Amino acid sequence: MLNLTRNDVAARLLADCVPAPVASFEAFAPVNIALCKYWGKRNAALNLPVNDSLSVSLGNKGSTTRVAFLSDAQADEVYLNGSAVNRDSGFYKKVVAHIDLFRGLVPGCLRVDTVNDVATGAGLASSASGFAALTKALSGLYGLGLGDEQLSVLARLGSGSACRSVYDGFVRWHKGVRADGMDSFAKPLPESWPELRVGVLTLTGEEKKTGSREGMQRTVDSALLYGSWPEQAERDIARLEHAIVQRDFTLLGATAEQNAMAMHATMLASWPPLLYWQPESVVALQKVWQLREEGVPVYATMDAGPNVKLLFEANSTDDLAQVFPEMDIIVPFL
Ligand code: DP6
Repeated sequence: MLNLTRNDVAARLLADCVPAPVASFEAFAPVNIALCKYWGKRNAALNLPVNDSLSVSLGNKGSTTRVAFLSDAQADEVYLNGSAVNRDSGFYKKVVAHIDLFRGLVPGCLRVDTVNDVATGAGLASSASGFAALTKALSGLYGLGLGDEQLSVLARLGSGSACRSVYDGFVRWHKGVRADGMDSFAKPLPESWPELRVGVLTLTGEEKKTGSREGMQRTVDSALLYGSWPEQAERDIARLEHAIVQRDFTLLGATAEQNAMAMHATMLASWPPLLYWQPESVVALQKVWQLREEGVPVYATMDAGPNVKLLFEANSTDDLAQVFPEMDIIVPFL
């Protein structure tokens, strides 16, 4: 049981599948924004989280991935937004490693075409939608007939937050208790919220120095403050679920913002300290706080990068567009 690899888990999960491959298959998965963040792993190899997390998927913003069998090829071919991806790149290796989870069942090299309709550097993590779309596409190509929870486990093996991008709407990732992670997957919440808006402020498109994978590990390993994080997440998930059921926007927004600030506080308490914020991030947050003082119900969240995402409802759109004219407005529930 000790030191299970991702390939071991995938083999176990796929053990009873009888493949019925087709020539090619295309799938879409949305980007998601966490309202209660996933920060810290109890098992890094399997992307098993310390805490449950809860997100909202961003409607038609995401990744579309098409996979097809290649005949007589020696290696997979990967294309991103129409351009061939270099075989030495980290992106190529991650995609191939994900295909390898399935390759024991159906051998053969593939061509993978991924199109992200979220601009690179827009502050929205395309790896979550990318791994979810790839997982769905591979299940379709190999004709495995996997259920959503199995797709969610497999997507998680690519990138933790990808397990939430298997679904639309509000999604909760249940951390699970099993050592093999077979019970660590996401499930959708039944509620919708048509008035909810996510505003993306692209403050800087600069490549970040420390990815979330390394950043969360450093936090777990070195920040004493991280000790309070599981309790924070547990409390916030309960509040968020209550807010969603009651359509209580103030509770939803305030909980999401406080959760994001608490996550960033644990990063700052790491050694060496980890600060994803740029001066522009602070300016944007202060504008959000000023707007709230003036009575505009708007809240902010941030992930492992400098960009700020705003949470508000449709009737605040005009007020916000005046202060943040460059904001990209996303409608999660179409
Ligand atoms: C801050 O899912 O990118 O966006 O599992 O190592 O691939 P890995 O990490 P990843 O981490 C996302 C962290 C976050 C919070 C969240 O989306 O819940």
